[in-house]
Amino acid sequence: MKRNFGLVVLITVIASILLLNGLFDKVGTFTTGADYKDINAKGNLILVNKSHPLPEDYVPDDLVKVNVKFNKTATDEEKMMRKEAAFALEKMFMAAERDKIELYGVNGYRSYDTQKQLYDDDSRTKGYSYSEQYDAKPGTSEHQTGLAMDVTNSRYSTNFGETVEGKWLKNNCYKYGFIIRYPIGMENITGYAYEPWHVRYVGVKAAEDIHSRGIVLEQYLNQ
Ligand code: DAL
Ligand code: ZN
Repeated sequence: MKRNFGLVVLITVIASILLLNGLFDKVGTFTTGADYKDINAKGNLILVNKSHPLPEDYVPDDLVKVNVKFNKTATDEEKMMRKEAAFALEKMFMAAERDKIELYGVNGYRSYDTQKQLYDDDSRTKGYSYSEQYDAKPGTSEHQTGLAMDVTNSRYSTNFGETVEGKWLKNNCYKYGFIIRYPIGMENITGYAYEPWHVRYVGVKAAEDIHSRGIVLEQYLNQ
């Protein structure tokens, strides 16, 4: 009887350790973001937002320099995107040029550390409320995926959405696989203020669908 009791205690302890380990694994995945396998599996449809972070050390493995005109503020890091997205952006900028629309890239890929610096600088100089609306906290920015690009015109207009270039981008980006990721009126779902300059590559099929249904990526992915 005593021996059996000891055995039951031992089995219970081992089972608890295994269970807790599993739970901690899940908690770990949730707080530190999707793991590399998840990210690769989701590809162009990866969701990154305030509640879906990336691991701090995530760097896409196929970043290339995008061959388009850039605003003079852009750093070498910011001129990069993942290969497929870079190619699509180049195609889109060429199409814009054919329509006599001159677009400029501002920033594409941003590492975790660059995002941290941006968030900290903006919080200090522009205030916490600005950062909450316009800057993702490090680890939660789409720029770290290498699938996003901020676009401007030759005047670097603050009201980009009202300019001919901003309107062209809004009406045409889906044809090249991009979406305006933070549309007006969707702040409560995306978590960010209207950003007419931020395009996100999702591939042509998803972009066409998102555009024609007037929805955002969270809704498209049912998240
Ligand atoms: N401006 C967007 C939200 C970012 O920082 O990723
Ligand atoms: Zn952006």
